[in-house]
Amino acid sequence: VSQKKKRVIAFSQCIGNDAWRQTMLEEMKRELSFNPDIEFLYRDAHGNNALQIDQIRELAKADIDLLIVSPNEAEPLTPIVDSIYQLHIPVIVTDRKTSSGQYNAYVGADNLAIGKLAGQYSQTVLQGKGKVGLVTGLSGTSASIEREKGFKQSILAASGMQISGIIHGGWEKNTAYAETRKHISQMAQSDVIFTFNDQMAMGVKKALDEAQLKKDIKIIGVDALPGPGNGLEQIMQGHMYASMLYPTGGTEAIRIALAIINNQPYKRENILATSVIDKTNAELLALQSHKIQQQQIDIDKRQEFITEQNRIYQNQKSVLNVLVVS
Ligand code: FRU
Repeated sequence: VSQKKKRVIAFSQCIGNDAWRQTMLEEMKRELSFNPDIEFLYRDAHGNNALQIDQIRELAKADIDLLIVSPNEAEPLTPIVDSIYQLHIPVIVTDRKTSSGQYNAYVGADNLAIGKLAGQYSQTVLQGKGKVGLVTGLSGTSASIEREKGFKQSILAASGMQISGIIHGGWEKNTAYAETRKHISQMAQSDVIFTFNDQMAMGVKKALDEAQLKKDIKIIGVDALPGPGNGLEQIMQGHMYASMLYPTGGTEAIRIALAIINNQPYKRENILATSVIDKTNAELLALQSHKIQQQQIDIDKRQEFITEQNRIYQNQKSVLNVLVVS
């Protein structure tokens, strides 16, 4: 019997080394562990557009059945992702987007809605009156563009609210720290600072602490990731005021990928739910995610046990074979 080739799902990640994207990858691997007949190819572009273009081109040559891509910056990545789609290789875009809409499915939270939610929340916190500073992500990334647009829409519609300044943090803690230091007098006028992710919130917090301002500026971020040092913990420890939950969508991306390659129905737009996390609900969310983690450890143990039993069984079978033959 000729053996059917293993089906291959490729994933091109824009930047792999932060906790949020590591969580995304873990989710993908967990979901894939239930489907051992799938081969998974993973490439990390380290935040480099040119490298990501090359990596996608290489992956396409490897006879893949589907591409999942989180594009670094939208414009530079659009032509290569479009060309994969035009080769009739199914494409799932996740988190950040390209500029063309040429994909089979999109998975991610609605970043425009997240910006609006952060704007509304800031108004509530400031009782309709005050100044908000913004710290954006890398300028060509759809997530940053959409969060900024949504935030401005909700703030500009409120007469008592003003934007005290916009600085660019490039999604990174260190850049956000350096830029906040550079523009400290402008940022210090803010009552709230909305940083487009929690990593940058930590950089801003450090710069504000060092400046020893008299006032208490509330920092709001995005991601609300569980785990040591991440957003949830920062909220529980009072370093951040709130964060907009931004699910990674790793699990959903693999489920949709499997539906596509198995010719099952799937949706084109898969918008993940988001909500405000602050000190009123952070602990609950942390407990829940801890519980899920424990369950995962149980599943892993059982999986190991099954693999071991299988190995023993195969061994015994071959011993039996030898006995029967001799
Ligand atoms: C991680 C990250 C997240 C952010 C997302 C936006 O690399 O910066 O913190 O929510 O990317 O694409």
